[in-house]
Amino acid sequence: MLRAVLLLLTAALAVGAEQPGSKDTTKPNILFIVADDLGWNDVGWHNPDVKTPVLDQLANEGVILNQSYVNYVCTPSRTAFMTGYFPYHVGTQHLVFFPFQAQGIPSNFSFLPEKLKDLGYATHMVGKWHLGFCNWNYTPTYRGFDSFFGYYNGAEDYYTHVVAAGLDLRDDKEVVRTRNGQYSTYFFTDRAVDIVEKHPADTPLFLYLPFQNVHQPLQVPKRFEDMYASVENENRRILLGMVSALDEAVGNVTMAMKKAGLWDNTLVIFTTDNGGWISASGNNFPLRGGKTTLWEGGTRGVAFAHGKMLQKTGYTNNEMIHAVDWFPTILEAAGGTADDAIDGVSQLDTILSGKPSPRTEFVYNIDDYSASTKQGAIRVGDYKLIEGYAGTPDGWIRPDNMTAGKPDCACADPATGTWLFNLKDDPTEHHNLADSMPDKLKEMQAKLEEYKESLVPAIFPPVDPKSLPAEWGGAWSPGWC
Ligand SMILES: *[C@@H]1O[C@H](CO)[C@@H](O)[C@H](O)[C@H]1NC(C)=O
Ligand SMILES: *[C@@H]1O[C@H](CO)[C@@H](O)[C@H](O)[C@H]1NC(C)=O
Ligand SMILES: *[C@@H]1O[C@H](CO)[C@@H](O)[C@H](O)[C@H]1NC(C)=O
Ligand SMILES: *[C@@H]1O[C@H](CO)[C@@H](O)[C@H](O)[C@H]1NC(C)=O
Repeated sequence: MLRAVLLLLTAALAVGAEQPGSKDTTKPNILFIVADDLGWNDVGWHNPDVKTPVLDQLANEGVILNQSYVNYVCTPSRTAFMTGYFPYHVGTQHLVFFPFQAQGIPSNFSFLPEKLKDLGYATHMVGKWHLGFCNWNYTPTYRGFDSFFGYYNGAEDYYTHVVAAGLDLRDDKEVVRTRNGQYSTYFFTDRAVDIVEKHPADTPLFLYLPFQNVHQPLQVPKRFEDMYASVENENRRILLGMVSALDEAVGNVTMAMKKAGLWDNTLVIFTTDNGGWISASGNNFPLRGGKTTLWEGGTRGVAFAHGKMLQKTGYTNNEMIHAVDWFPTILEAAGGTADDAIDGVSQLDTILSGKPSPRTEFVYNIDDYSASTKQGAIRVGDYKLIEGYAGTPDGWIRPDNMTAGKPDCACADPATGTWLFNLKDDPTEHHNLADSMPDKLKEMQAKLEEYKESLVPAIFPPVDPKSLPAEWGGAWSPGWC
């Protein structure tokens, strides 16, 4: 009797347990694509002037996520994707990591690929990191990726791969000096295709593709710019070409996955990291503001999910999702579970079958690093509160209304204030309810104060001359912190 019970128990454990390194062909492959600075109004399903046939088709065959929130700039959003924590709980709430600052995500935070490796996944990354590199321990292959091909910083020249007088391109740990003159999107796509072609069929694949497009500098091969010959503004024409280059890249990767027989068991998550950057000709109309602001134009991201495992498809999902949710969502899809302590909640049922989101509120950001940019913003139900610095530019900027990199609009730019919106009635933030709804305002302010209690100090040290590429053979390199 006892022996039978023990046998049963052992069998149950064997089925239920996550076996590190075990092979499993039933787990889905996960293709997690992050576009850089892709604006709300810069995808085909929001703007018919934008040519993104591949992305449009994937979005339309899958589920368009219409309330998928991200952080206001790159490093915070990538923190959320990789850790499942709001940046203000990690120390990445203030702006971004700059090349010459000794910054990294503290090592007690587990990264998504580490968790996926424990579940038997092969984990690969191609593209932009932006989560610290001054110490090897902060870099991708030390944080769970089997391979990394890309750059550590937030932006660089698409052809020379240089930023601030330093080369920034690595194949795993090695500096790559052979790609000068080549547009990054081509060779990042080639590497992703190569990973797919060489991938062993008996192992689930996690492929993280944070593309360089469409972050500034505005650069694109001519054939993409030519797709928008009728757009008069040159910057906007190039930006749109960069969007279409991204679209073609995604098409090539998905084609490779089909050829390799991986596609039918692949869950695709596509998201931007923040809104379009107005000064670099990105556009978020009709949403207010853009990248670097807490307005919806900076934080309500374009996103969709796609995959044969989706039970409900071909519709627009309006459930509340935040960037921190991808960590537990992807883990659950992979057969694992995330720590209860993280800020993210799994949205797997939301994206697979349209079930209501378990999320009812989130923090846009909390940052008290400097007096002039002190800010706090939260969403609770239909309401949004912004207190302090909302970021610039403000306003509702149309794509055809940019002159010399500045929005040509009669936009007021108070930058600092107190705003209360009902986003259900007013998704474009035209009507500040702070004066007309004093009780609601107090309630939201009290809630924000509660959130602020768990704010950790920003990781934002002064410039460190030890970082300079001249000390490291001309490349931005780990080893100085
Ligand atoms: C990591 O350590 C910091 C500093 O002690 C702490 O505030 C934070 O909660 C820890 N995070 C995790 C995920 O353990
Ligand atoms: C996509 O694949 C085609 C065919 O191989 C190639 O000509 C094109 O350059 C690729 N595009 C990108 C963005 O990699
Ligand atoms: C463009 O900006 C000008 C100058 O501020 C303004 O008068 C005009 O209404 C704007 N046009 C659009 C389409 O927003
Ligand atoms: C997407 O959200 C916008 C703004 O909240 C809303 O107006 C629109 O109806 C939503 N789209 C769909 C198809 O539900």
